[in-house]
Amino acid sequence: MYSVKCIECGKENSEESYNCECGGLLEVRINLDQVEIDFKLNGKDLSVWKYRSLLPVKIEPISLKEGGTPLYRLERLEKELGIRRIYVKHEGLNPSGSFKDRGMTVGVTKAIEFNRKAVACASTGNTSASMAMYAARAGLKAYVLLPAGKVALGKVAQALMHGAEVIGIKGNFDDALRIIREVCDRLRIYLLNSVNPFRLEGQKTIAYEIVDEIGVPDRVVLPVGNAGNISAIYKGFKEFLELQLIEWLPKMTGIQAERSAPVYKAFIEKKDNIEPVSNPETIATAIRIGNPVNAKKALKAIYESKGLAEIVSDDEIISAQKLLAKNGIGVEPASAASVAGLIKLAKAGMIESDEKVVCITTGNLLKDPETAIKVSGEPKIVEASVEKVMSLM
Ligand code: F0G
Repeated sequence: MYSVKCIECGKENSEESYNCECGGLLEVRINLDQVEIDFKLNGKDLSVWKYRSLLPVKIEPISLKEGGTPLYRLERLEKELGIRRIYVKHEGLNPSGSFKDRGMTVGVTKAIEFNRKAVACASTGNTSASMAMYAARAGLKAYVLLPAGKVALGKVAQALMHGAEVIGIKGNFDDALRIIREVCDRLRIYLLNSVNPFRLEGQKTIAYEIVDEIGVPDRVVLPVGNAGNISAIYKGFKEFLELQLIEWLPKMTGIQAERSAPVYKAFIEKKDNIEPVSNPETIATAIRIGNPVNAKKALKAIYESKGLAEIVSDDEIISAQKLLAKNGIGVEPASAASVAGLIKLAKAGMIESDEKVVCITTGNLLKDPETAIKVSGEPKIVEASVEKVMSLM
């Protein structure tokens, strides 16, 4: 029903490997001509497992009811930018508060299938929170490697509370990923970063849900960190195209923070791989990544779909976060990069006025309460009296 193949040399690999011998990234190939589609694209009962017939698992999944996230229209922004339709798919409303849950429900299920007792990841925060939650659900031991001092508070709290062994390293995410990959090899622990091709299988359901609810959009805009999600969503659309469930592919548009932007730089230079950035920095700590492992897949997605890459500053990220908040949508800074990028591209005339655009907001506002308070200001404190309170209103 599926196989795991190298995107470079095409060689079939074992289901349990993360890299081909040739060094290439792996991809799960679903045998689409043999799949019996058992779902209807009727906009109802959206969830990751609605699309189980296109997901590579053999056992009952470890699920916390992930997916089925809302799609909100931003009418005021449509008017302001002169774009026909702008939607936000709020992935921050998943069980652990980010899109990672879609990948983890599949990834942790595979860990059980492969009879592993422990899982691990390096993370800028959300992957670790999600993995800890799903590992707890499955009864697996979880090990998390974080860049010390650079992970938003809510995410660390989740990883700890769900019982993961949390280790901070004096280095950045890229260092943490290099180390955990080797540790996983040596100790036969199941690695759940997005080099694991099964993670991306879960995340591709973002594309399925969008089509299910509003049909195929013209463009999907999302933040890019380790570059897994843009690759996953593109794969989802491509599978639907091959299955003739849609008639075109949306332009995949990846947004990076300006000082953590290797994918953007490769795009501008028309290259098919990145040069790593050695000291990535941004207020959007979730995407503070200089050497994204899935860069090749992401660039392919952008080029093939005639999409774009763009960079945004920390100020642009925070104003987009506030704009979303004013529309009732609470997101963490990295998520706001999608909308910040759309605004920048639209103002530069790079978006057609008749486009139907979907921005993915990847994580919840509560993930990073410290930044939220820093940019919004502290509450005012007064004496406990009606007059004093009213004097502030
Ligand atoms: N948005 C948020 C909120 C994230 O947490 C991440 C990645 C991204 C966007 C970028 O997605 O890596 O697939 O390109 N967070 C990872 C983590 C790296 O460890 O939580 P990507």
